[in-house]
Amino acid sequence: MADGIASTPPELVDQHGRRKRKLRLSVTDRCNLRCAYCMPENPSWLPREQLLTIEELLRLTALFVIQLGITNVRLTGGEPTLRRGLPELIEGLQLLRPRGLQRVSMTSNATRLAELAPALKAAGLDDLNISIDARDPALFQKLTRGPIEPVLEGIAAARDAGLPFKLNAVVIRDYNDGEIESLAAWAFEQQVEMRFIEFMPLDNAQQWSRERVVTESEILQRLGTRFGKIEKLPRSSASPATEYLLGGKHRLGIITTVSDPFCSSCDRVRLTAVGELFACLFSARGSKLRDALRGGESDAALLTMIRSGVWNKEAGFAAPRGYVERPITMHRLGG
Ligand code: GTP
Ligand code: 5AD
Ligand code: SF4
Repeated sequence: MADGIASTPPELVDQHGRRKRKLRLSVTDRCNLRCAYCMPENPSWLPREQLLTIEELLRLTALFVIQLGITNVRLTGGEPTLRRGLPELIEGLQLLRPRGLQRVSMTSNATRLAELAPALKAAGLDDLNISIDARDPALFQKLTRGPIEPVLEGIAAARDAGLPFKLNAVVIRDYNDGEIESLAAWAFEQQVEMRFIEFMPLDNAQQWSRERVVTESEILQRLGTRFGKIEKLPRSSASPATEYLLGGKHRLGIITTVSDPFCSSCDRVRLTAVGELFACLFSARGSKLRDALRGGESDAALLTMIRSGVWNKEAGFAAPRGYVERPITMHRLGG
């Protein structure tokens, strides 16, 4: 076809045959923590008028759900709870449930959940992934430049509000790898799933090196020594994590982006807070949907842009490429 678009099927599919079902919406680039692997030490925040408004977020998400078959939306940041109007956004998304939306999730650092968890639950949030890279308060402070107490209070508030959650920790050698066992023990005690994430070459400060990646096999070896028998659970196609059962009872996930990339089954796309569509975490550039939206483009034109941006999605992360130079940092892309 002349424009390379008409040949794509009506569902949202890329040139490698992967159908997209999950949309990650970054709702702000701001964060109240400074995890070094994600955020520059002195970040400059995007001017508010550049961010998609709640109405624009809802209009674009409606296109993704109704016209393109997206079933899951995950709100990310920065830290999404810093976005004004977040409960209204979640409420607005509920209108898409009869049109195919199945889940509304959020990835958060939990620091503001003590205040917000009940309102988010009431607005219709289904579940959370909470980042916590260390259990030791002094180390947590060193890693994030913030105290751990609000996070622990936020986790308790999520539980009290009836919001199911999983815990995420990015593991980096000589940084927080000494926390693997204590984070796991703490999560197991609370009967919460802990997920360890291999450090990806996406950090702003270019601290990534292969030596700093603590791989799945090393994590499993350490946990096996501490907790006993490890069983691999059948893989759910919907999750980036490989799931395990430890000691016959504790659920654990490992996100093996580096040692065993799961790109061949990738079902996600991501929209930055300024409305750029990045089909892959490692995409070199995004499609500027906000500019088209504000330029008065029709839904049909926006759909064409989205389909084309996704169709051209790269095969994925080829680990040997090493550090990836990108025009955008993790706190603006939303993980
Ligand atoms: P679930 O649907 O609960 O499995 O959520 P999730 O794991 O996709 O979301 P979360 O925000 O908790 O992400 C956990 C880790 O997986 C983060 O480090 C993300 O950057 C990483 N991740 C999420 N999506 C992708 C992806 O498409 N590709 C790669 N390589 N990593 C991803
Ligand atoms: N490598 C792996 N995971 C990362 N995240 C942020 N930066 C990186 C990186 N360089 C994770 C956060 C959070 C999720 C949204 O992305 O810890 O769990
Ligand atoms: Fe903030 Fe999350 Fe980035 Fe840490 S990883 S600086 S909590 S957005």
